[in-house]
Amino acid sequence: MSPGGTGNANRGRETWEDRVITALDSPNWAEAELLLGRLPAANRRVKVGKQLFTREGPAAVAKLREAGRDVFLDLKFHDIPNTVAGAVASAAGLGAWMVNVHASGGPRMLEAAGEALAGFRERPWLIGVTVLTSMDAAELRSVGVADDPEAQVRRLARLAHEAGLDGVVASPGEVAMLREELGRDFLLVTPGVRPEGAAGDDQRRTATPGRAMADGADYVVIGRPLTGADDPQAAWNAIGAELAPRNE
Ligand code: C5P
Repeated sequence: MSPGGTGNANRGRETWEDRVITALDSPNWAEAELLLGRLPAANRRVKVGKQLFTREGPAAVAKLREAGRDVFLDLKFHDIPNTVAGAVASAAGLGAWMVNVHASGGPRMLEAAGEALAGFRERPWLIGVTVLTSMDAAELRSVGVADDPEAQVRRLARLAHEAGLDGVVASPGEVAMLREELGRDFLLVTPGVRPEGAAGDDQRRTATPGRAMADGADYVVIGRPLTGADDPQAAWNAIGAELAPRNE
């Protein structure tokens, strides 16, 4: 595993608060800022996706960094190696803490992404996306993949690992298998997480933050249970009650 940005150097000393990434799924900066204002100050890691970034661009990342947040830039790059390498370097230039690419872009694309980050003194974690959780076996077959989703996730995670990526995004159902396969140092970033008692929303295969961590997740991505809570501080505390004992 290579060294990373400010947040990354401290990975071994991270508290449970550092391991929660809040999804800022907002249509524009005004709404993202409102959300941010409702989140506890201790929640310093946030995820910016295609919706907010396409609307607001690098300024959103810059403002979040000014507000003391580490930014997971969730743009899931997928293109020819040279283009992805450039995009990943641009993300590093913005000061992103974590960035992701589609592992199905293949080994040369993954390696080019890694090489593009080599020159940065503080670089983001480079994470692979395996199979989108919206795809089932029938959809995989329709794009020419005969294997079931779990086998394809395993294949793509291995590919990401071999290419030297820092980790992959994994759903709660895959975390234990990937941790077992790929060892302690490979980062597993897990969305689809719902604290005990929270609504599932449109997520289907969910796990509690405590379960995801027990299975081997390094980071949990949580959106609506925090951003949509009547009392985000109380929701945060409930997540802490699950995670804090595991971090001691
Ligand atoms: O609100 P919720 O907790 O469901 O938000 C989860 C976040 O993680 C969203 O930004 C969603 O797009 C993202 N995500 C996911 N499942 C994946 C990859 C990303 O839910 N497999």
